[in-house]
Amino acid sequence: MIGFAGAIAPFRPRRLSGDNDRMSQPPESYQEEIYRSGLADVLPVLPCDLSALEHLARERMAPQAHDYIAGGAGTGDTIRANAAAFRRWRIVPRMLTDVSGPSYASAVLGAQLAVPVLLAPVGLLRLAHPDGELAVARAARSLGTPMILATASSVAMEEAAVANGGGTRWFQLSWPRDRQVAASFLRRAQAAGFSVLVLALDTRLLGWRPRDLDNAFLPFLRGTGVQNFLSDPAFLAGLGGAGQAAAIQRRMQVFGDPSLTWDDLPFLRERWDGPIVLKGIQSAADAQRAVEAGMDGIVVSNHGGRQVDGGIGALDALPPIVAAVGSRTTVLFDSGVRSGADIVKALALGARAVLIGRPYAYGLALAGEDGVRHVLRALRDDFELTMRLAGCASLADLSPALLTALPPAGQEP
Ligand code: FNR
Repeated sequence: MIGFAGAIAPFRPRRLSGDNDRMSQPPESYQEEIYRSGLADVLPVLPCDLSALEHLARERMAPQAHDYIAGGAGTGDTIRANAAAFRRWRIVPRMLTDVSGPSYASAVLGAQLAVPVLLAPVGLLRLAHPDGELAVARAARSLGTPMILATASSVAMEEAAVANGGGTRWFQLSWPRDRQVAASFLRRAQAAGFSVLVLALDTRLLGWRPRDLDNAFLPFLRGTGVQNFLSDPAFLAGLGGAGQAAAIQRRMQVFGDPSLTWDDLPFLRERWDGPIVLKGIQSAADAQRAVEAGMDGIVVSNHGGRQVDGGIGALDALPPIVAAVGSRTTVLFDSGVRSGADIVKALALGARAVLIGRPYAYGLALAGEDGVRHVLRALRDDFELTMRLAGCASLADLSPALLTALPPAGQEP
């Protein structure tokens, strides 16, 4: 009798969570690589159900750091609403369509995407891992995924740009109260090769975050997430040579400007030579204003439920916004994306691409650069397989007709 081991191809060792884009044709999927590596008892670096990462990270991270990443505003109601909105929409797979040669490539604001996924701006990543944004920049580049670097990054934007090399990078601006510093950030970001400006609208003030309050833990006060300020000539010039403690104090004063209005947007247009995207839009009325202001794109997002408690689930906000402006601007989406199915749902409801936040921060915390790569590769395979199994060979096959909505809780027949 031929034993199982005799019936299989010999194992060729290969690093798990590596980039196989450069390897021999046809490229092996992550799924194939994982199963083949299992023959040599090599397991994936992290769980493949990405929704399991938060729990694992809680076991392994410093509690304050985990709370900072996982936590949300107030009672956590908006985080729950984000998850619930995804669960209400269900995919209705179609059968016997040709999905033998799928392509989910697209171009979004000049970025070439193999799959419509970008890394959301998540600040302070050195809380998660000593390599912080540098590891994320390297992982993103190796897989061809655009990264959006936060103003609150824990390395200076120029350092992240070097780590990202020839990758595609966008810069998220948290508009400082000091206009000279704001202008300086824009100049530096353009010089460092950031191609799209993403203005966060929802962080003019810091939300009420009980988990951080209970820990009395605000990382900025401890010198994390202030590196773009401490490396900025305009900011330093305003300090007049004061020490680090005074610099951090000053940074707290200038971070966020609650007086900003729609009338301020021309300041950015005059100083940014490329697309501008507004992040944090949750109403059709604001989406209309973004289009009227000549913005190139919007991110429908509630900041992962970290700012307004009791807020609308981000996916619930998407359909009316797409109906209002979907044909006139590029609509991106984030908040609550945890799986390939979630991506399919957001795209079917009209988003051109999605941003992921916490899952890659947990991947970073648990396994550094390899952990980020794992998250991105797992998400890509999961998305592609869900698309194919649902009968979609290209992004053009996606529409709300692929989904059905369950009745809201309490209204079931
Ligand atoms: C964020 N997010 C964020 N957004 C932004 O525009 N600037 C920032 O500095 C940060 N910082 C940040 C830190 C941490 C720890 C988290 C978890 C998130 C929000 C982020 O870009 C994105 O909107 C959400 O993370 C998306 O929700 P999910 O994927 O985390 O559910």
